[in-house]
Amino acid sequence: MKVFAFINQKGGVGKTTLTINLARALSLKGLKVLIIDSDPQANAGSGLGVRVKREESLYQALIEENCEAFIREPYPNLFLLPSSIDLVGLELELANLDRREFVLKELLTKSSYKGEKLLSYFDFIFIDAPPSLSLITVNILTASQGVVIPLQCEYYALEGLSLLVRTVRRIKDTFNPELKLFGMVLMMYDPRNRLTFDIAEEARKHFKWILFNTVIPKSVRVSEAQSYGKAILDYEPNHKVSESFKSLAEEFLNRLKKS
Ligand SMILES: Nc1ncnc2c1ncn2[C@@H]1O[C@H](COP(=O)(O)OP(=O)(O)OP(=O)(O)O)[C@@H](O)[C@H]1O
Ligand SMILES: [Mg+2]
Repeated sequence: MKVFAFINQKGGVGKTTLTINLARALSLKGLKVLIIDSDPQANAGSGLGVRVKREESLYQALIEENCEAFIREPYPNLFLLPSSIDLVGLELELANLDRREFVLKELLTKSSYKGEKLLSYFDFIFIDAPPSLSLITVNILTASQGVVIPLQCEYYALEGLSLLVRTVRRIKDTFNPELKLFGMVLMMYDPRNRLTFDIAEEARKHFKWILFNTVIPKSVRVSEAQSYGKAILDYEPNHKVSESFKSLAEEFLNRLKKS
């Protein structure tokens, strides 16, 4: 397994934060990780301090059926295929295509990087999804092998999850038999907030089989780091949030070994 979708149709739950920082933690261990920002909001790019022109993004790569020219390397071993607002129009453009669910998958299989197949050059490809269940999301799930769901420890965290899980199963049954629910992460964990315990309890009750033991604590440092265009692991490497992303990376690799 190397292609993972970081997905939850609920907005602001920590998809981008999880994608960037787990990728960064793995890259610090020497693994080559490519983040594909598939959200027109392009938060993964700004969170990593990468700014590109609209015509240098995923949308253009999909048009040209090759992403090599658009891949950036903001940190050693950490790569990014940036997004742009142009992706908003993609849904409509894809609507009438025959293989409209496979556009992203075909980009990944056809592209190469530095003289190698894209899929063999990188150890991991992490796709940061937009907050929706749309044709773009279907493309992401069709192109992925594993699904990782961030849960925000806030009101209604579990609402909509059954729809997401059903969507994953539907894509598995139709377009992508190798798709697997791989993990779930509790984000913005705040032990001073009773609600956090209730959400954690509920999540354990229903999703024990995929929930990671590591939780990501809540801290203003996370948004602070993002506003400086940095992963928290670079902004404050010894912060408890950075430590928890490092443990999550360990847990992620261990689970992968066992799967
Ligand atoms: N552990 C944390 N502690 C405090 N704030 C956090 C934490 N993780 C994320 N945030 C903040 O919460 C907000 C939402 O996070 P993020 O952008 O990662 O969510 P998202 O699910 O990608 O959002 P969207 O659905 O808009 O793509 C951001 O401002 C981010 O800085
Ligand atoms: Mg996001």
